[in-house]
Amino acid sequence: MNVPLIVGNWKMYLDKEKCEAFLADPLWKEGNFSLSKGQIAILPPAPLLGWFFAHRERIPFLYGAQNCSLYLSGAYTGEISVSLLEQLGCRFVLLGHSERRKYFGETDEQIARKLQLVLSTSLTPILCIGENWEERNNRKYPEILKKQLVSALDGLPDQSRKRVVIAYEPVWAIGTGRNATVEEVWDAVETILSLWKHLTGKQESPQILYGGSVEPENAGDYAGIQGIQGLLVGGASTQSRKFLSIIQAFFHK
Ligand code: PGA
Repeated sequence: MNVPLIVGNWKMYLDKEKCEAFLADPLWKEGNFSLSKGQIAILPPAPLLGWFFAHRERIPFLYGAQNCSLYLSGAYTGEISVSLLEQLGCRFVLLGHSERRKYFGETDEQIARKLQLVLSTSLTPILCIGENWEERNNRKYPEILKKQLVSALDGLPDQSRKRVVIAYEPVWAIGTGRNATVEEVWDAVETILSLWKHLTGKQESPQILYGGSVEPENAGDYAGIQGIQGLLVGGASTQSRKFLSIIQAFFHK
C-alpha cells in the first residue's frame, strides 16, 4: 500500500521572498498539518533548491524538482543533473509535465530517457500523462494515455517500474479552473490500471495522483476515488491557506 502523496508544483510562480513567507507561515506550525497521514512535497523553482537544502531542518515538507536534464553530466549549459538534485536533498522529480511538452518541445522519447536516468538514482519520478481537450472530446484519451505510458515504461525492469508515480493530469484541466469530474478521473484511472497490467503482467498497481485545477472545494472528491492516492497541485499550492485546506480535505475524507 502506497502512502498518499500531495505535491505542490510551484512552477515559476513564486519569488524567493514569497517562497520564504509561505514556508514561514505559522499555519504550518499550528498542528493543522501532520505528515503522519501521508507525504507532502513542494517542487520549488530550481534556483531555490539550494535554499531549501540549507533550511531543510525547518522545512516541514519533502521537496523535489520540476524537471531534470536527460544527461548525466558534462557540457550542457543551463541543465540540471539528477546527481545534483540528489545532493540537494530532493526526493522527487516531475517528468513530462504538459507545460514541458508544450512550451519546451519535450518528446515522449526524451521523457523516457529522463525517467531511466532518475530511476538510476534514489529520486522518485512523478510521470505526468494526460490528454488535451480535443483528444478527450474525440474519446481518444485511452490511446494518448497508452502512447505516453508505453513509451515511458516499456523495457524498464520491474523493480524500477514499481518506483514510478503516475500523475494523471488532463491538459484541459491544468490552470483552467475546469477540474476533471470524479467520473472522468475514475475512467482514466481504470484505463491506466489496465494498461499497467497489460504492460507489467503484475497485479501490483502504481501510485496514481490526480492533477488539474485542484482546489480546497474539490480535493476531497478525489480522495474518494479508488486508485487515486494523492494530488498534484499547481496554482493553489502557492498559497499556504489554500494548500493546507487541500491537504486537510484530502486526508480527512
Ligand atoms: P493547476 O496545475 O493546479 O494550477 O491546474 C496543476 C499542474 O500543472 O500540475
